Amino acid sequence: MIDFHTHILPGIDDGSRDIDQTKELLRQAHAQGVTRILATPHFYADRVSAGHFLEKRKESLLKVCGLSEETEWLQEIRTAAEVYYFPNVGKADVLPELCMEGSNLLLLEMPFVQWTKGMYRDIEYILERRKLKVMLAHVERYYEFQKDKSIWNAVFELPLYAQINAGSFQRRGKRSFALKFIKAGHQVLLGSDCHNPEIRPSNLQAGREVIGKKLGEAVLEEIDARGRLLWEDAE
Ligand SMILES: [Fe+2]
Repeated sequence: MIDFHTHILPGIDDGSRDIDQTKELLRQAHAQGVTRILATPHFYADRVSAGHFLEKRKESLLKVCGLSEETEWLQEIRTAAEVYYFPNVGKADVLPELCMEGSNLLLLEMPFVQWTKGMYRDIEYILERRKLKVMLAHVERYYEFQKDKSIWNAVFELPLYAQINAGSFQRRGKRSFALKFIKAGHQVLLGSDCHNPEIRPSNLQAGREVIGKKLGEAVLEEIDARGRLLWEDAE
């Protein structure tokens, strides 16, 4: 089982504060049945240079790789980034380096506002001109801001992946949206978006149970197969 969205690397963003929190998040992930982790620290282009970010991410990953007992169950941890949208993001030179290690999969976090045509064009540019794959982070969190659904509809007609936070399947306000979204046939991937062991833990299992129960195990298997394919494609 792959967790496609985590803030498990220590001391780099508002996720894990230190290696002790990372150890606890790893314990939680193991208990959830996770076998592969994508580490996706926040990248804000207006706050930090790409060079600095990549250097910090490398240092932070080294700390995790230095663990032995806590990671012996883990098949693999790979780096990526949760890149926060900015105008003309598609033209940023650094994008390939922010993709999942060894691949061209980019995790893009969109703004929590009404999406615009410019945003649509940026995503389209990343897909068509940069030839990268796009995984939009926690898609269930943007919907309420889309009073005008035309851009939203156009975005999800693009060939992209839509990541959903597992915790949203346990949240009243988000569950029915997330289930409907999967049912509509979108290319969904799951992530915990874990930040810390207490308030935003590694929690894939409970959400997966909701999907299995409401939509059937075959749907869950389809999501897992999609994730495996993406992961293994990059190897
Ligand atoms: Fe996140």
